Amino acid sequence: TTVDIDPAAYDAGEYDSFMYKEMLEQPAAAERVLRGRLDERFGTAHLGGLNMDPRETRAIRRVKILGCGSAYYVGQMGAALLEELARIPADAEAASEFRYRNPVIEPDTLYVAVSQSGETIDTLLAVQEVRRKGGRVVGLVNVVGSAIARECDGGIYLHAGPEVAVASTKALTNMFLGFALLALQLGRVRDLSIADGKRLIEGLSRIPGQIAQILEREDELAEVATRLAESESLFFIGRVRGFPAAREGAQKFKEISYRHAEAYQTSELKHGPLALISEAVPTVAVVPDDELTSRNVGALHEIAARRGPLVVVTHEGVDLGEVAAVRIDVPRNERELDPILLTVPLQMLAYHAALHLGHDIDKPRNLAKSVTVE
Ligand code: G6P
Repeated sequence: TTVDIDPAAYDAGEYDSFMYKEMLEQPAAAERVLRGRLDERFGTAHLGGLNMDPRETRAIRRVKILGCGSAYYVGQMGAALLEELARIPADAEAASEFRYRNPVIEPDTLYVAVSQSGETIDTLLAVQEVRRKGGRVVGLVNVVGSAIARECDGGIYLHAGPEVAVASTKALTNMFLGFALLALQLGRVRDLSIADGKRLIEGLSRIPGQIAQILEREDELAEVATRLAESESLFFIGRVRGFPAAREGAQKFKEISYRHAEAYQTSELKHGPLALISEAVPTVAVVPDDELTSRNVGALHEIAARRGPLVVVTHEGVDLGEVAAVRIDVPRNERELDPILLTVPLQMLAYHAALHLGHDIDKPRNLAKSVTVE
């Protein structure tokens, strides 16, 4: 059973759907989650709501992130940020699975619950399981005063504003930024240098404007989406920093276009999915400019050799060789922050595919905005 937000209680105004409106609100929402939290002088983040002093913060040996759906995928991006910036082992797990395996709860692990609504029952029960066993949980939650927010020891509110569409956009973007703030703060009480802290702060400040630049390319993205919508089945691929973006891209695409969209690690293509590649099965590949670019481009050749149509989300200047591909260049930022900029065009692809196919964008069949009963 599920409880739905009543769209009638809100107003999409001049927009055809809440998802569209919420996508366009992302630059402003991103500014809100960062506002007042960046400390340029010390190259760190101020997160008073965590309720943790520096000694407690330093004692953390591991981070476990719990969420469902898109919140789980962005949790994977968050785990990577925490490992890269704070050098703390971190991983994300589907909150819906967590408590069923009798998890070991450790006192020096920080548990992070991620939820837009703050009401998702599986995430709430995971939080209760951790706290019952004496673990510390902080929440990355959008809705103030929600059940999960109340249940946590502290947290970071996301300030995305009300999100009505089932497919999360601005809340997800702010979840990523919330993780970046957390990683910055945890990093700066450890070994992240002040110079690196400042470098990231500068990068974070550029994110809202860069999201706006991507959104301005709607016409081009709509054209690509219309073509992708014709296929019954698609792959979304990426690796390391690009993989959670591919997962989130596939999730959005399948939930609102009803096409079969499957995410795979680019490195695993040869262990299965290559068997399915043909003219009829396009691949959306996430290929940032990083230490894996040439390997990723190698995989694109494998796909092209099997006549698989390619859409590549990448950075300007990345050499894709002879591969015939539609390319979507996103602005460059600090590498650690790439995942969110790689995700925004994928939202637009899903939205325009669903629009083209004439689906209900905000309320896809069989799904609910917040799943509040087990
Ligand atoms: C539902 C929605 C997803 C969402 C997930 C988690 O399954 O359809 O879009 O990501 O719940 O929601 P939450 O409110 O906890 O972020």
